[in-house]
Amino acid sequence: MAVERTLTILKPDCVRKNLIGEVTRRIQEAGFKVVAMKMTRLTKDTAGGFYAVHKGKPFYDELTDFMSSGPCVPMILEKENAISDFRKLIGATNPADADEGTVRKDFADSVGENIVHGSDSVENGKIEAAYFFAESEVVANLA
Ligand code: CDP
Ligand code: MG
Repeated sequence: MAVERTLTILKPDCVRKNLIGEVTRRIQEAGFKVVAMKMTRLTKDTAGGFYAVHKGKPFYDELTDFMSSGPCVPMILEKENAISDFRKLIGATNPADADEGTVRKDFADSVGENIVHGSDSVENGKIEAAYFFAESEVVANLA
């Protein structure tokens, strides 16, 4: 299996609930290496750009309001099979459908406020990582 990178965001609800530590602990416990991390705040416009693929969908306006409602914590994570394994760790988009023990099952309030983002492909992961991080902020290759 190939080593992959995925882009996650600990969303504003995760930060508000003081779950940065707990969710990051689960991520690291599952074998993901954090290779870039920051705290930032999206605007309605930058949230809209990140989720441009969903533009026009009924939940887009609410989603961009939510994603710009407070600080969030994007990270680039590295692991074998990272894309698929991370989606398994976080669970289904709607916490009501998420498996027991997943991050969204345990902590998410609704399909909209669902604690974490995870890239859906290696290609999108690269695009999403570049949305938040300059090459110089990715410390994976430093000693
Ligand atoms: O985040 P994920 O890839 O699991 O789901 P998505 O289908 O790519 O949707 C992106 C985000 O939009 C979700 O994580 C939710 O925050 C939000 N969403 C929503 O509010 N209502 C929906 N019916 C679907 C998604
Ligand atoms: Mg998605």
